[in-house]
Order: sequence, then C-alpha cells, then structure tokens
Amino acid sequence: MSDADVVPVKPEIAAAALIPRARYDEMTARAAAAPDEFWAEECKRIDWMKAPTKIKNTNFTGDVSIKWFEDGTLNAAANCLDRHLAERGDQVAIIWEGDDPNDSKKVTYRELHEQVCRLANALSAQGVKKGDVVTVYLPMIVEAAVALLACARIGAIHSVVFGGFSPDSLANRIQDCNSVALITADEGRRGGRKVALKLNADEALKSCPTVKNVIVVKATGGDVAMQAGRDVWYEDVTAAASPAHTPAEMNAEDPLFILYTSGSTGKPKGVLHTTGGYMVWASFTHQYVFDYHPGEVYWCTADVGWVTGHTYIVYGPLANGATTLMFEGIPNYPDTSRFWQVVDKHQVNIFYTAPTAIRALMRDGEGPVHKTSRKSLRILGSVGEPINPEAWNWYYRVVGENRCPIVDTWWQTETGGILISPLPGAIAQKPGSATLPLPGVFPILVDGEGQRLHGATEGNLCIADSWPGQMRSLYGDHARFVQTYFSTFKGLYFTGDGARRDADGYFWITGRVDDVINVSGHRMGTAEVESALVLHPKVAEAAVVGFPHEIKGQGIYAYVTLVADAEPTEALRKELVAWVRKEIGPIAAPDVIQWAPGLPKTRSGKIMRRILRKIAANETDSLGDTSTLADPGVVTDLVDNRAG
Ligand code: PRX
Repeated sequence: MSDADVVPVKPEIAAAALIPRARYDEMTARAAAAPDEFWAEECKRIDWMKAPTKIKNTNFTGDVSIKWFEDGTLNAAANCLDRHLAERGDQVAIIWEGDDPNDSKKVTYRELHEQVCRLANALSAQGVKKGDVVTVYLPMIVEAAVALLACARIGAIHSVVFGGFSPDSLANRIQDCNSVALITADEGRRGGRKVALKLNADEALKSCPTVKNVIVVKATGGDVAMQAGRDVWYEDVTAAASPAHTPAEMNAEDPLFILYTSGSTGKPKGVLHTTGGYMVWASFTHQYVFDYHPGEVYWCTADVGWVTGHTYIVYGPLANGATTLMFEGIPNYPDTSRFWQVVDKHQVNIFYTAPTAIRALMRDGEGPVHKTSRKSLRILGSVGEPINPEAWNWYYRVVGENRCPIVDTWWQTETGGILISPLPGAIAQKPGSATLPLPGVFPILVDGEGQRLHGATEGNLCIADSWPGQMRSLYGDHARFVQTYFSTFKGLYFTGDGARRDADGYFWITGRVDDVINVSGHRMGTAEVESALVLHPKVAEAAVVGFPHEIKGQGIYAYVTLVADAEPTEALRKELVAWVRKEIGPIAAPDVIQWAPGLPKTRSGKIMRRILRKIAANETDSLGDTSTLADPGVVTDLVDNRAG
C-alpha cells in the first residue's frame, strides 16, 4: 500500500459509533471556536464534588502555567469506583489473566471498591497523607490497580516505576520525589520466569531513607526477607483495615501522579499530572477513540508501569465503567497464539497493543493466529511508536480479518492521553498514519526556526494550545519543564517528534528529532545509556544512538572508547551489555557495541551524532559533511570497523 491507500470507515461501525463523522466535525469546530464552553460541557462526564466554574486558564509563554477546571473538586478513585456501584456494582471491572494460562480471575466494581478502601485505610494508618508521594513497583497484578486507586483516594501522589527497572533506577526515582512509602511484591512473573522485585527494592532502599513503610504483596509466595518495622504484608494490612472509606476531596489541580520518562539528558524527568483535567482526558479519549460501548470487554496489553497502563488500563476504562483486562504475561508465552487465545477466552471486543508485538508475532506467520477465532474483536489499536504499513496490514488482515478498524494512537507520557488518532466511526485510516487530531487538539508543524508550515509538508510537531490532559510540570523542577517543552519554539508545546502532513491533513509521525530513542515502544534517553556505560571502570567514553531494528523499531547502538590499558574483547562486550542491564534494566541493553578508538567531534568537542546514526544505520555512503570535524580520520575507522 502507498500513502494513497485509504481504508474507509466501515458503515456498520459508523452506524453504531458514538462519534460519526458529522459529530467529529461539529465537535472539532466547537472545541476550536469556544473551548471554555466545549470543556464546560465535556467535563460533566466526571463526577465533581464541586463543579468547576473556571474552565481553561493556560499560558504557554513566560513561566508557563496550565490550569483546567481550577475551582472544581473531585476524587479520581471515586470516579473510577464509587459512582458505578449503584448501577454496575456486580459488573466485572477487571479481568485478570495470569502469566500461566490456567490463572485468571474477575473482580467486580464492588470488590475492587472494597479492596481500594481497605488499602486506602491501611496507607492512612501508616501515616501517609494527602500530597505525600508513594512509589509503586509491582508486576501486572490486580493489586497494581488497587495501589494507584488507593493513593488517589487519600490524595497521595503515586509514582509507578516499571517492574523491569533495576534497583538503581528505582532508587533514583524514589530519591527524586522523596517518596515516603513503597508498594511492591515478593516477585513478579513473566513468560514463566520470576522477577525478584522485593530483592531489587531492598537493594534500592539502602539509599532511600525517606521511605518509612513498605507494603509487600504476596504475588508468587516466593521466599523474601521482611525488614521488621519497615515491611508489612499487603494481605495482613488490608485484612485488618476497614472496607469503608470516604474519598478525599481534591482540587482539580492537585497532583494525581508522577511518572518518570526519558529525555535528552541523563536524568529521567518526573512528569506531573493533576487530577481534574487528566480524568476528563482519560475518560473522553478512552470512550471516543475506542468507541467504547457499555458491556464491552476492553484489553490494553501495556504494563501499568508506563503511561499507557495508567490511562488506558486503569483510569480511562474504570472512569467509564468498562471491563478492563489486565495481562500479567507476554505475547509469546507459552506460545505465539497467546494474545488471541486470551481474546477468545475472555471474548475481548477492543484490543490495544504496540507495533513491536505485532512485528514479533508476524515472524511466526499466520498459523498461530488462525488457530483462534477472534470473532469477538471489533476494534484494534496501536500505540507507542510508528507502525510500519506492513505491520499495519498484517494486523488488519490477519488479526482483524479486514473487519476491525485500527486506531493508530499518537501521544506521550506528557500528553496524559491520546492526541492524534482516527476515531473508528469517523475517520478513514491510512496504514502508518495516526491521521487527525481529536477535538480540542491543535497540532501544527514548524520549521527549525519555529515558522509555522502550512499544507502538505514536514516539520517539528508542536501543539499550539493546551488540552485538559496535558502535564503541568516536571516534579520539583518547573524551570526544566519550561526549558524542555516551551523554549525551543516560543509559545508552543514541542513534542520532540517530527511529522509529515499529507494533502488530506493526515499526520504521519516520523519519530523523535531529539536524543530520545524508542525501543520496542519504550522510550529511552541515549544519555541515560551513555551514563551507565561510562560508570564501568574500563570505559573512557561512550556515544549511543538508535538504529532501525526489524522487530524493536529502534535498537540501541553504542560506540565505546575504552581506557588506555583495556582490551576490546568479546568477553568485555558481553560484560558491558550485562552492566547496562544491571544499571538501568533489561530494556536498555545495547544491541550492538562498536569499539571506537575515537568519536567524531567538532573542534569545540561536541560529538556529531548525525554521523554516528548514519554509520549505525549502515548508510555510510551518505555521511554528509565531515569537514568540520576535529579529526575526520576517526570516521573512516568507524566505518571500516562497523559492528552488527
Ligand atoms: O515518538 C513518539 C512515540 O512515542 C513517544 C512517546 O513515548 P512515551 O512517552 O513513552 O509514551 C508512549 C505511549 C503513548 C512519542 O514522542 N509514539 C507514541 N505513539 C506513537 C508514536 N510514534 C508514532 N506513532 C504513534 N502512534
């Protein structure tokens, strides 16, 4: 298929859709013409304790201030639980599917409410208060959702750290926000293997004196050490706590959570989301992008450790009274039919995953898919990285049997929820394009000088005005927030992505234009990997770039300069890969390490990454101008000794 290939909206989807095309056009026009009125209406999807009278108060210049619904009060957990009890208390809220295919359970809204109330009371009893930060380091178990909602219920700010992160990464993320408590588990399970979460947590906590209490979920029953006076079992404290709890009244602009993400510099950034706008955005986008109808079973395969898990496993679906599926396992365990077996087992209607999973499954051919029915599927979704048309077409044809529209959803940790995506009943799809913005979202393309580009063109993707789900700040560092997102192009939110716009106004995200790479849909700062490498005593200098990788989208390519007396051996190469896994986590392990006697630098000492990217991508005949290099000879050496 070429750009011109269009997959039209299906009449049967459009006929029952919440947003058919005319309504999309009408909403888009209204949100642009009168945002205050539009969002005053739309925010009613959330139950407010005190309804907001002030709607939008945002400014992208100067100090940058973003406030939505600022005099409203609400509780996020009450919106996900209490308000559903009368109507759908006995409906399943969470279907949990274990790593082991024989392991699954269903939790109703009433049961989830009770568990959340118990944990909220237990946290309060430990002295955790409104505004305190609680770090959550859990596998994909129901208690992860309970932990988030219990924090939200008492007004504590949760900071989830992905269970694949190392003790060091966990420690950094605890220290940055001074969290007072940690919720973790004995172990996690993934693909038949155990992940030693409590052991990692113990290691991390050695350098985290602010954490006074640790609540440990017994997930596998594995043997772990408990530190008296600090560690308690989740099962014990929740059993002892009352199942009744009054949710805290939170201001719309009170923080709901912090989530660390990678940027251009070494230190991960604590993206801060607040309560009112985020909840409105999570609910609005989940309902409309997935065309969620009551009673449907919805499954997002992300991990709750990433923003996709926050917004589209927990807050969005539960705010909308949906049945949301949580999967502990991986796509290829016990075999590569697993996703589709789970779809059949739980009669999933809406399925949302990442392109990297689709590409990995494609390798096994159509057989494992054909073994299953998938007749329940109605809508498919993609997130996290550009989906190449080949993967799009396979997903559409083989998985969805040409029946299910694909929503290719573009967004970021910073945006809180989806900004650009087709709506299944309104917008014709083009494989590989995230298509058009949602109502109330104003993406524009600018050139390197910040000049706005019009028509069919390519440039830096910026958003011209605020939407309710936008991040408010970087935790504890508002200056860095302004610098990172609002200083490159004055008055605009800069996404860090490049994009093309075609003659139909469709957006095609081309990838990051900064030093961030996207490995299997996981965002990684090249500087983070470099910092980890140079910590090794035999490494003098390191430069890391992304390179095209068939399955992962991008792989990690590291150029390493060793200290004078170190030998570049195969054993050392393996040691360095293991070193990065240990320092950051398995997702950061370099795919390729090339020994570099020197790195291409300008005369002022700046590494020319453009050249390193070209060599990594094996595009060595188009290196461009190397005349400004201090020593052009190093390039010849790197090209001649290209690894991988
Ligand atoms: O480069 C874009 C890519 O993922 C980045 C955001 O990563 P993260 O904050 O970890 O959030 C991932 C889940 C939303 C973006 O800057 N990205 C995300 N979705 C898409 C995408 N690139 C192309 N197409 C998408 N649908």
